[in-house]
Amino acid sequence: MDVRDVIAKKRDGGTLAPAEMRFFLEGYVAGTIEDYHASALLMAIFVHGMAPAELACWTEAMMRSGRVLHFADLGRPTSDKHSTGGIGDKASLPLAPAVAACGVSVPMISGRGLGHTGGTLDKLESIPGFRTTLDEREFEAALRAEGVAFGAQTADLVPADRKLYALRDATGLVPSLPLIASSILSKKLAEGAESLVLDVKFGSGAFLADPAEGERLGRTMIEICAGLGVPARVLLTAMDRPLGRAVGHVNEVQESLACLRGGGPPDLRALVLALGGEMLHLAGVAPTLADGEARIAASLDDGSALAVFERVVARQGGTPGVWCKPEDHASQLDRDELVAPRAGRLAFGDLRELGLALIDLGGGRHAMTDALDHGVGLDWLADAGDAVEAGQPLCTIRHRAGRGLADARARLARAVDVRDAYAPPPLVRARLG
Ligand code: URA
Repeated sequence: MDVRDVIAKKRDGGTLAPAEMRFFLEGYVAGTIEDYHASALLMAIFVHGMAPAELACWTEAMMRSGRVLHFADLGRPTSDKHSTGGIGDKASLPLAPAVAACGVSVPMISGRGLGHTGGTLDKLESIPGFRTTLDEREFEAALRAEGVAFGAQTADLVPADRKLYALRDATGLVPSLPLIASSILSKKLAEGAESLVLDVKFGSGAFLADPAEGERLGRTMIEICAGLGVPARVLLTAMDRPLGRAVGHVNEVQESLACLRGGGPPDLRALVLALGGEMLHLAGVAPTLADGEARIAASLDDGSALAVFERVVARQGGTPGVWCKPEDHASQLDRDELVAPRAGRLAFGDLRELGLALIDLGGGRHAMTDALDHGVGLDWLADAGDAVEAGQPLCTIRHRAGRGLADARARLARAVDVRDAYAPPPLVRARLG
């Protein structure tokens, strides 16, 4: 096969055959097909899109470019959740142990903060000793014993995506629905989960601001999963305000623990119930969604989800009860307040500014090699839609000796938008699949 023929076929709007896609991706990972070939093909895909069966096949070929995990003999169904990312999104921390406590194993391979959004691995690593770099044997042992493993993507999982994503980033080819959907799903499907729940976020703090685009991405991912025989659902959820009240690392772990103890902010609990209910239903453990949600709620209220979380933390190197390093304890941080500029209803104009404010404080990265300060963060004292008075404290800023504080304050002032009237849209806007 000649790589130029494959590129030309897609350039002219054709549909690639499975053998052509496998040839291309295998050659690209092996280094016999060059970046300039891949750029040309990606641009053709960007312009012409992919037919549903073609995209399912492309995704599968990406997934098979490296190791694919299988956990068929666990004796329990497996399911996983993926979020397209947002601000304050710590849902995976309470969700995975709650789902495991209800009889479904969760092989959770997560990411780090990306751009203005936070990452599950970074939050977990604020727990002293917690190791996310599990090898395959340790990952499987944790999954088998506790029903949950929290791991990082290893070099041999979906190498095609690692190369293609870097190339897309360098060539302006990230925002393409088929390329985004195949990138996300090839990684999730390589983890070995038998079903998937996808939390596609929309709003100013999300990767895709427009709900219609979020819905298109959700439908594309459902179609790919259907083509590969993997049951999947999508929840389209609001990211026009932070999830919960904590934005940071140590404080997000604290908020997750509150949720695991049956409390915590109502929106976090609602999202954990909605996602967990879907996972139990898809995995065949709950006969209805309502039953699935009730089981998840019970696991949070009776301590069984917390017990799973504590066992996983211990297995992955932490000590339950020691939830942060001494230097990251709230008492070791300096505090400042953001107050309401006027009376009205709390809303957020550009929520991305909140994520960027956390980066200014040292709680996020400009480059993947930057070290994080896990202790800094934002603790909101009011929810979107609440009535606030002029001068009322809206947010406590945990900072370290003023590092980045002025920039963070300026961003927060831009993000907060107190309006005469505002009712936030429902957290879950649509359910697909
Ligand atoms: N997240 C991914 O993993 N891939 C994309 O292309 C976009 C977001």
